[in-house]
Amino acid sequence: MATWSNFNFQNSTSPLMEQIIFFHDHTLIILIITTILVSYLMVSLFFNKYINRFLMESQMIELIWTILPAITLIFIALPSLRLLYLLDELNNPLITLKSIGHQWYWSYEYSDFNNVEFDSYMTQFNNNNNFRLLDVDNRIILPMNNQIRILITATDVIHSWTVPSLGVKVDASPGRLNQTSFFINRPGIFFGQCSEICGANHSFMPIVIESISIKNFINWINNYS
Ligand code: CUA
Repeated sequence: MATWSNFNFQNSTSPLMEQIIFFHDHTLIILIITTILVSYLMVSLFFNKYINRFLMESQMIELIWTILPAITLIFIALPSLRLLYLLDELNNPLITLKSIGHQWYWSYEYSDFNNVEFDSYMTQFNNNNNFRLLDVDNRIILPMNNQIRILITATDVIHSWTVPSLGVKVDASPGRLNQTSFFINRPGIFFGQCSEICGANHSFMPIVIESISIKNFINWINNYS
């Protein structure tokens, strides 16, 4: 989860978020190298004495400084496209969770299991028994090591179902049903927040996922009243 002064990504809890972090690092390295090169060239211009009498035009250098950036961009574009298509893949999900955004709370439906449904409101902070501004009364329970499909919609305005450690960020629009999927590869409690400015209490509709083993999940769903 996010804590104070955390400038970096949260640790990934899904293979796709891992890939997103790899791509981010890869792109940032290219960006840093480019910035350093361009800064060096700009600074060196200040110390140039402009004494070359014959250099009016040069096809060769123009060719090089046109093609080099183009090749650099291909090195970013191809991994980016690969990620984009990987994120869109469904991979035979085991269960489907439906998430509905409201002003200002989320509600969830496990449509595979005789309509298990509940609302998920943020809870009041009470002296370190819960997480301030991030905890909810009814958490999403999901089995780890399984492909999970999530369907996202809203009833009033646009919300956004966002869980950074899973690499999921999908808008919840009224009248639309958006779909994505993820795979949680470890047990734990993972937090998210709405990321679409949706009104006065936008900051107070967090998302909490409890990732447990499939055995405990079946137990939970069987005993759900
Ligand atoms: Cu819902 Cu912001």
